[in-house]
Amino acid sequence: MTQKHSIVIAGGGSTFTPGIIGMLLDNLDRFPLRSVKLYDNDAQRQEVIGKALEIFIKERHPEIKFTYTTDPKEGFSDVDFVLAQLRVGKYEMRDRDEKVPLKHGCIGQETCGPGGMSYGMRSIGGVLEILDYMEEYSPDAWMLNYSNPAAIVAEATRRLRPNSKIINICDMPIDLMYKMADMVGLKEWQELDFSYYGLNHFGWFTAISDKEGNDLMPQIKKHVSVNGFADGIGTAQHLDPSWVETFTKAKDVYALDPATIPNTYLKYYFYPDFVLEHTDPKHTRVDEVREGREKQVFGFCQDIIDKGTAEGVEIELDAHATYIVDLAIALAENTKERFLLIVENNGAIPNFDPTAMVEIPCLVGKNGIEKINQGPIPQFQKGLMEQQVSVEKLVVEAWIEGSYLKMWQALTLSQTVPSAKVARELLDDLIEANKGYWPELN
Ligand code: NAD
Ligand code: G6P
Ligand code: MN
Repeated sequence: MTQKHSIVIAGGGSTFTPGIIGMLLDNLDRFPLRSVKLYDNDAQRQEVIGKALEIFIKERHPEIKFTYTTDPKEGFSDVDFVLAQLRVGKYEMRDRDEKVPLKHGCIGQETCGPGGMSYGMRSIGGVLEILDYMEEYSPDAWMLNYSNPAAIVAEATRRLRPNSKIINICDMPIDLMYKMADMVGLKEWQELDFSYYGLNHFGWFTAISDKEGNDLMPQIKKHVSVNGFADGIGTAQHLDPSWVETFTKAKDVYALDPATIPNTYLKYYFYPDFVLEHTDPKHTRVDEVREGREKQVFGFCQDIIDKGTAEGVEIELDAHATYIVDLAIALAENTKERFLLIVENNGAIPNFDPTAMVEIPCLVGKNGIEKINQGPIPQFQKGLMEQQVSVEKLVVEAWIEGSYLKMWQALTLSQTVPSAKVARELLDDLIEANKGYWPELN
């Protein structure tokens, strides 16, 4: 008899919480639950989501105990899994991550370039705090972390909590696999076998086949070379105009190395000029999210609260949630399924820094993860990755040491920043914008 699990979602007030809960409830036959908790440090934000889900779960699954809290002891006691989705500083600070770099002529993005570094300096402390709560109150639990910027957070936990049971993950490649499955007439990403290497939001598919071993790359390349990833299926999140532009631009990203299929985020490194031309500095992605997903999710929840019932209401399920639930199932049920995870390289890419946190396929089971070696990588990718991983490592060092110099070096080294002069002016602005969130830099 499968054991019933207890989970806590950290960052319970996230716009992704209802989707994750919906997916968990849809998978109770594979992943039975006895308890679901939400934890957040913003009681007011979380309450809307919490109250609505309380009604929803009570009506459909009264056997599952559901609570929401801002008390760490209550949140993290007696849990088997922590699903972490924090955004330290919330959208108010994402707004600065995206808009401050634009003032200096640099791209403004949630996880890439100066915006990602700015977010990273806020996120490290928040994620470590959650990890420490988990270890204090439920030392045997696993943390599945998708709080961004995942690359920087993963490097920080490698450095500062090397023995912790944390797995860092991203949903972008999964969404791309859905789209690639669709291109070849398949439905589920699980119907594809794949090879992939890179850093988070900075990688390449090197092989895609079906489960019979038939090579699907020629057909997928043909599609991507003309349309990028556009014109395919997508989650609601990824249907907004800025995402459609990103998926379309993937065709030009692909052109840089037609032997592989690239991650969409490489757009920010290869075509920052294009991105800048297509960005309204007064209306960036965060505005689109606030007007779209945030409004929709909180409206949906408020509606349930106002009516006092969730009768007839369905939660939309998406690629983001399915991946996280599948990963928890793999850990709990020892499925040995293949996932793309952000893990310490340690030879999996033999001609690359062994201490780098790389994104590669891994087999996941009860006793943890087994990396699948990807072999040596070509000069182009190696050069790009060495630069980018150094940026990520320098940000983490800057956070640990409180070093202004290392943060300046990180910004200067980023492909998205044109000079040390711009890097320094940008840094001074980011320090100002992040007052109260970043450690003091000297
Ligand atoms: P959001 O702002 O709606 O939600 C984040 C929540 O975290 C907020 O309710 C906030 O109050 C809470 N929070 C902030 N600091 C906290 C702390 N120290 N302790 C507890 N709670 C805290 O953001 P969102 O757009 O829903 O995204 C949530 C997170 O998920 C972000 O980090 C986002 O980048 C990430 N995400 C990652 C992936 C991936 O591929 N890895 C995919 C989607 C979203
Ligand atoms: C993708 C990425 C996530 C990122 C998200 C941003 O799913 O993998 O890491 O957080 O997009 O989406 P948003 O809709 O908030 O801009
Ligand atoms: Mn991601």
